[in-house]
Amino acid sequence: MSIPRRTLLGVLGGAALALPILGAAVSWAGRGIDTRGKVPFDRPLHVPPLAPSRVDAQGRRVFDLTIAAGRTEFTPGKPSTTWGVNGAHLGPTLRAARGEKVRINVGNALDEATSLHWHGMHLPPSMDGGPHQMIGPGTTWSPSWTVHQQAATLWYHPHPHGRTAQHVYRGVAGMFLIDDDAAPPELPHVYGIDDIPLIVQDRRLPGGVLDPDEPMAGTTGFLGDRILVNGTLGPYVDVRTERIRLRLLNGSNARVFHFHFADRRSFELIATDGGLLPAPHTTDRVQLAPGERAEIVVVLTPGERVVLRSSDPDTGAGFVQRDGGADRFDVLQLRAADTLAPSARLPARLAEVPRIPAHTADAQRVFELAEHTINGRRMSANRIDLTVRKDTTEIWEVHTGDGTLHSFHVHDVQFQVLTVDGSPPPEHLAGWKDTVLLPPGTSMRLIMRFADYADPNSPYMYHCHMLYHEDQGMMGQFMVLEPGQRPHPPATDHAGHH
Ligand code: C2O
Ligand code: CU
Ligand code: CU
Repeated sequence: MSIPRRTLLGVLGGAALALPILGAAVSWAGRGIDTRGKVPFDRPLHVPPLAPSRVDAQGRRVFDLTIAAGRTEFTPGKPSTTWGVNGAHLGPTLRAARGEKVRINVGNALDEATSLHWHGMHLPPSMDGGPHQMIGPGTTWSPSWTVHQQAATLWYHPHPHGRTAQHVYRGVAGMFLIDDDAAPPELPHVYGIDDIPLIVQDRRLPGGVLDPDEPMAGTTGFLGDRILVNGTLGPYVDVRTERIRLRLLNGSNARVFHFHFADRRSFELIATDGGLLPAPHTTDRVQLAPGERAEIVVVLTPGERVVLRSSDPDTGAGFVQRDGGADRFDVLQLRAADTLAPSARLPARLAEVPRIPAHTADAQRVFELAEHTINGRRMSANRIDLTVRKDTTEIWEVHTGDGTLHSFHVHDVQFQVLTVDGSPPPEHLAGWKDTVLLPPGTSMRLIMRFADYADPNSPYMYHCHMLYHEDQGMMGQFMVLEPGQRPHPPATDHAGHH
């Protein structure tokens, strides 16, 4: 038995902590970018189409995706070279039901290798689309698995080690919605009508054109000064129902959003990364780090226009307004029709979210994120950083060690937040999560159960979802193993630049 029942991986000593270099994103004056009241909202929001699918002879729902370069006009008459899935920019929304088998054919029509990762999905590591499932140019990768999780807003994006920031920046991303009969029917659920996906991303568009290469920026990576929602610049959306459900995804490389409405109205937070909350949580703001999702339901009155904004994210930056902490953006305008179709009231209970008791944990581990490393080590494709025994529960304590903002993400599992700086989590962290924001000085204890899918040949990743940090090596690999299995690290580093 090679796995100690209780493992405490201490912070590795000897990792010299250099002072974080204050990069171009620093704004000493604390003024930041401010687009409030300056966005014309003159373009209808693009809603990504639902991906067509068919059911094959083995009963699997099959999707065909192709990643390719194309041209996109973010501003009329100014084409940018972009990448997309089944189109020039972003990709269609995949949709599958709990219990369904899916098979996804992912063709790569780019001239470089990439991968496609199903962020938030519980699935075998060989189907995960991480850096060990590279798709060479001109080839197709066809993962298949059974959906074993509750209703949720998941997403997909490339994961080639060292190139993730660039590939996402160019436009490869989309949503993956899981449906579940257990979800309350009162929730708005007509896609594109009262249930709207919002992929929010910051970009720079000098002269109206997206830079072909992700520009370098500050300590957390690229920060843009324009907001795209589903690829639309300055979008509005027509609303025809009293209640509208917005599925928010922070698809940015490094920017933290702190969403609220311009009039500070309250709304219901109904779901986080991995599914519905136990009950709607009434709030007037929701903060999302790169990779995180939230579903909200907002009530509109006939004829009104209200703007979704982002301001004052908690970047832990104090009076030195770096990492975008001082930036304020107008994001999306909601335009309510003069008559709104009635919507059902939200139920008082949304889902069962059984708490995983801390005392059931079989192991505890500590992760320090600092200086592009986790516990002092940078990602190495042929090193397995830790192994987990299948059907066990672990507590992962994560904290930052370098005064910089991080966004911690674990593949395969949905976890629960046990504590934030030693206190019970706030209500918006009461549900299933796969990514959490870690402002400097914050420490979180996360509890997760590793069920299914032991594989001694294929690791899962855990990493910072600030894509620049991830590419720099703030990532590790874990394997889920049956008792007695030994890890076989991938022999070759096929994950680097091709
Ligand atoms: Cu959203 Cu390892 O990724
Ligand atoms: Cu992921
Ligand atoms: Cu980071």
